[in-house]
Amino acid sequence: MCGIVGYVGQRRATPVLLEGLRRLEYRGYDSAGIALAGSPVQVHRSVGRVADLRGVVPEGLTPKTGIAHTRWATHGGVTLENAHPHVAGGGKLALVHNGIIENASVLRASLRAEGVVFESETDTEVLAHLIAKCLEGEGDPLAAVTAALQLVRGTWGIAVIFSALPDTIIAARNGSPLVLGLGEGETFLASDPHALVPYTRRVVYLQDGDVARIQSSGIETTTLDGAPRSRVVETLEAEWAEAEKGDYPNFMLKEIHEQPAALRRCLSGRVVVQEGRANLGGLELSSRELNAFRRVGLIGCGTAHYACRVGAMAIEQLARVPATAEVASEFRHRNPVIDPKSLYFAVSQSGETADTLGALKEVQIKGGHVMGVVNVVGSSIARQCGNGVYIHSGPEMAVASTKAFSNMIASLYLFTLQLARARTLAPYEGRDFAQGLMDVPDLVEGFLAKKLDVARVVEWLSECRSVLFMGRGLSEAVAAEGALKLMELTYIPCLAYASGEMKHGPIALLEEGSVVIVVAPDDEVRDKTLSNLQECRARGARVVLIHTEGDPIAEEADFAIAVPKTSRWFTPFLTVLPLQLLAYETALAMGRDIDRPRNLAKSVTVE
Ligand code: F6R
Repeated sequence: MCGIVGYVGQRRATPVLLEGLRRLEYRGYDSAGIALAGSPVQVHRSVGRVADLRGVVPEGLTPKTGIAHTRWATHGGVTLENAHPHVAGGGKLALVHNGIIENASVLRASLRAEGVVFESETDTEVLAHLIAKCLEGEGDPLAAVTAALQLVRGTWGIAVIFSALPDTIIAARNGSPLVLGLGEGETFLASDPHALVPYTRRVVYLQDGDVARIQSSGIETTTLDGAPRSRVVETLEAEWAEAEKGDYPNFMLKEIHEQPAALRRCLSGRVVVQEGRANLGGLELSSRELNAFRRVGLIGCGTAHYACRVGAMAIEQLARVPATAEVASEFRHRNPVIDPKSLYFAVSQSGETADTLGALKEVQIKGGHVMGVVNVVGSSIARQCGNGVYIHSGPEMAVASTKAFSNMIASLYLFTLQLARARTLAPYEGRDFAQGLMDVPDLVEGFLAKKLDVARVVEWLSECRSVLFMGRGLSEAVAAEGALKLMELTYIPCLAYASGEMKHGPIALLEEGSVVIVVAPDDEVRDKTLSNLQECRARGARVVLIHTEGDPIAEEADFAIAVPKTSRWFTPFLTVLPLQLLAYETALAMGRDIDRPRNLAKSVTVE
């Protein structure tokens, strides 16, 4: 989603800002721009990529203070006028903003009535003019920003430069992340630490309600009421340095292949195989407390939600605690009953997804326990929860999530083991589960090491009007994840169904040559899925089957992909791999943008 970069220091700001924007490209955007200190402030914007922006920014610009933005359109279309930064007060200030100003239309009308002329359709420009108005009254830029923010409702991560203050950026946060990077005689600002990595590891995460005065000599943080607020300086985790493509053609392929290492990192030090138990220290829950929970609720969006569905099945079946997986955007708005004896997990790669954050706050408001299952350390969800499990995938840069899916499941399985052993699971059962989990990275590595030739399937898929995915039990969630991957990367409509539901509707779609992707590892529901597979073939569909190595079920398919044998709980780690690769290869063959599919953003910070 939208990205913010800011710089104030001794270097020329433009190269730092453009490099920062390049590093945030993975988040998804459709226009970009920079603003540089001066009188008036100067702004350069373009629709399209950061490379297009480079083309319109003049060479050799000397200002040493500036802000920059990549915009993912929400209020108003993808146009030059709507691109940030927005200027107000005749060049007295320029503003970049992530988030949404909810009362923008009312404010716009009253500013218009006072004679303000708007150039864009954005809520951000409303805020820019509001700050300019407050500046007329207050005189002091920081006071003007805080006064304007008192008048708006919504979410923001903002950075503002003023012609009157060439060595200062004013920033503020409410619901949209901002992190400050401290250097020697220079200070950086970004919506995501990835932009800071080349320059500094010393960072300060702003919190909701913070306002910061950022100068080359350092930072000062206050609340919106002007009260001083000290923030701790943290060290950026080493993992952020991994976030370059290396020898891979794109991030997605790199991240698919990183799964064994990411899984090892997630499991490392958390499993005691001999005792058949796991220990997630970040939860800070004793066995007694684990025994007291009556239900577990897992909340997430998209891929995270599918990981939740796998996790919920494991928790319920192994720990015998009722468990549900919820779509965060639905959960938060349906006035859910929160049992204080239930435990909730907010599951999110980015830790910034607005719907998941909203859902977890709803749980907290109603007095429930909620913990994070999050990748990005220090992210909003991690902070809001306080306790939780880091999944340790390392930076995930491709918009389509891959390694985070596997690590979310691994983390939820660690919790399952901890919970199950505290309740019902016998030591020998715990040992089998622990050992099975520890074996997963090697099995994943073994599968990924072999070349998967799926050219024939890619040809079928590229010509399809739609694709059906199906599976049962754990594999139903994997099928849903496979459909999401293929759909978001190729733009082919994909439908995922529980195999048993096919005959209740979706089977009507099938005709000669339709493609059905069936996930049927050798588990206790394999035979049932086999019947559904045969029903599809009988209607002329071509079946692509993901199955367990050595299983004769392969003969029933038009194209069969074998994955290594493992016990049923661990099949999702393996069956998802060919689905990720199929989506990848098909998108490649269709000439799609692998890392940045259209209209999508890496972290969805709006509702
Ligand atoms: C799909 C995908 C999205 C995310 C979803 C939640 O490949 O990436 O569906 O899974 O937007 O994001 P996080 O996990 O960051 O909360």
